[in-house]
Amino acid sequence: MFNQYDEKYATKEFYWGKKPSPICYKVLDLLPPDKPLKLLDIGCGEGRNSIFFARNGYHVTAFDLSSAGVDKTNLLAEEAGVKINTFVANLNEFRLEENFDILFSTGTLHYIPENIRKELFQNYKEHTNENGLHVFSVFVKKPFIKPAPDGESTAQKWISGELMNFYHDWKIEHSIEEIFDCMSSGIPHKHVSNRIIARKFRGEL
Ligand SMILES: C[S@@+](CC[C@H](N)C(=O)[O-])C[C@H]1O[C@@H](n2cnc3c(N)ncnc32)[C@H](O)[C@@H]1O
Repeated sequence: MFNQYDEKYATKEFYWGKKPSPICYKVLDLLPPDKPLKLLDIGCGEGRNSIFFARNGYHVTAFDLSSAGVDKTNLLAEEAGVKINTFVANLNEFRLEENFDILFSTGTLHYIPENIRKELFQNYKEHTNENGLHVFSVFVKKPFIKPAPDGESTAQKWISGELMNFYHDWKIEHSIEEIFDCMSSGIPHKHVSNRIIARKFRGEL
């Protein structure tokens, strides 16, 4: 399957850098690894977030559609002296058969076609341990934001609020909509994202 990122990841440089996304620090706070915790990074890219979590003591599994991205993730893990479990997979076909404590994804879930989102999120929710977290961000459409100049045909933006809806029965620990500037393709433009951290919480408060 064609993936524009294969080319971006084929160089020595790290396209997304090596620093973790700021939301990773919130995970440390909300579910610290004071016991063994399994984390899955969906669409890990070159591994900047996976490696951060592994360095901080989580048991990390990571996958991406791009084998070049997975290679870079392995390289970064080696550099950092941590072990992570990696594989190449298409998130639209791959389904969980084991449980995790944390499912994490940044900048990737807009590759899920609308018609399979419900079934896929059901699978993710079922395979999450009690008290576990989903830490997700999605690009959303807004009438006042122009489509990005490098918009890809495989990218399918979400409706603002759609992600939150999947978690009506979980505890929402964090939810925000953000507008931010982007320079990818060299032309300045804006994106809007919805970020959520939801906890599988079955007790009573
Ligand atoms: C914007 S990058 C984000 C990478 C990483 N999460 C990060 O924050 O550094 C999007 C990633 O999604 C991956 N991707 C695109 N389609 C995918 C699919 N169908 N299944 C799995 N990964 C996919 C791309 O290869 C790319 O690495």
